[in-house]
Amino acid sequence: MKKFFDDSSRYIMNTYNRYPVVLRKGRGIKVWSSDGKEYLDFVGGVAVNILGHCHPRVVVAIQKQAQRLIHVSNYYYIEPQIKLAKLLVEHSFADKVFFCNSGAEANEAAIKLARKYSKEQVSPKRYETITARNSFHGRTLATVTATGQEKFQKGFEPLVPGFKYVPFDDINAMGKAITKDTCAVMLEPIQGEGGVRMPGPNYLRDVRELCDEHNVLLILDEVQTGMGRTGKFFAYEHFGITPDIMTLAKGLGGGVPIGAMLATDKVASSFQPGNHASTFGGNPLVCAAAVATIETLLEDGFILDQCNRMSEYLMEKLEQLREEFPSLIIEIRGKGLLLGIELARDGDPIVRECLEKGMLVNCAAGNVLRFIPPLIVQKKDIDRLIDVLEEVFAKLTRI
Ligand SMILES: Cc1ncc(COP(=O)(O)O)c(C=O)c1O
Repeated sequence: MKKFFDDSSRYIMNTYNRYPVVLRKGRGIKVWSSDGKEYLDFVGGVAVNILGHCHPRVVVAIQKQAQRLIHVSNYYYIEPQIKLAKLLVEHSFADKVFFCNSGAEANEAAIKLARKYSKEQVSPKRYETITARNSFHGRTLATVTATGQEKFQKGFEPLVPGFKYVPFDDINAMGKAITKDTCAVMLEPIQGEGGVRMPGPNYLRDVRELCDEHNVLLILDEVQTGMGRTGKFFAYEHFGITPDIMTLAKGLGGGVPIGAMLATDKVASSFQPGNHASTFGGNPLVCAAAVATIETLLEDGFILDQCNRMSEYLMEKLEQLREEFPSLIIEIRGKGLLLGIELARDGDPIVRECLEKGMLVNCAAGNVLRFIPPLIVQKKDIDRLIDVLEEVFAKLTRI
């Protein structure tokens, strides 16, 4: 193991604080390290592995596509790309899709499309995007500017012009922030990296109304909340609204890197050949994996049902933990299998103790334990998680 750690720090840039484990193999919710230890994975590649690790249908789709055609340029028509776009359009508000490789790229594309549409169709002066404090939209220069958290921006100034921030879930602040320069409002329906923060039941509907009133586009960043994560295919379905633009990545490819930006025809028609592109975006291999992922996810609604049932079960168990450890747990929140416990202390030591006990969990915003397991998680996995948390919490509250 030491050799892996040494070579990693010798050859790889120091951008991640890694936990001392080398993961080598995965199946379903389980992963195994290079020394053979078994873990239950409630991180799921940070909300990526919605079907679990190495789902057989995704593996077969990748194998078959890899034997046929791995990559060709977007100068030519690509069969799995067309199939994937059709699936996404048929199951969402959108009419058209642009493919890229990550969540940040999908958001970049969304910001560019919103600017181009608004300048051409509304007013040449419109270029500003309003985002929420505590949001997370990516690490490229424009998306880190869109991200309403200074800690991610520090050291990279000057930031990209044309962004403004408002508190999340504050409709009055949004109303005041929209001006004649605003082209778009960009929000996560539920904030993920910011600590699993839910808006009030009417917030997104009220934002939608404000946007319509001022001819401003609504971009929903569903990079984390999309693909069944919250118990519906897309999180906007919980709130009775549709956006003008939506971005996806994470769960879309069942583990392979793919992002997508979806829009209505009205907005999408502002992009013409040459306006935006990506060499790898929508290549045959990743699209074949994404088609297999979506087909598996939507088959008979079984996995979404499982997600909702397990969400309810996990919530119930977490509530019991809260009763047991009232001084440690401040709040439990989230939707579907994007759930978080806000702690009255730093979460990292808990993550490390859980790791020791064969349980992978994640900490967001410093003190929120976030549970984002595959949607195929079972009761016995949740029971094991709760046992481990109980042991770790008991140990920490004794100290
Ligand atoms: C809501 C949201 N948007 C965008 C991103 C950035 O995605 P990526 O890391 O694929 O660029 C993330 C990543 O965590 C995210 O949670």
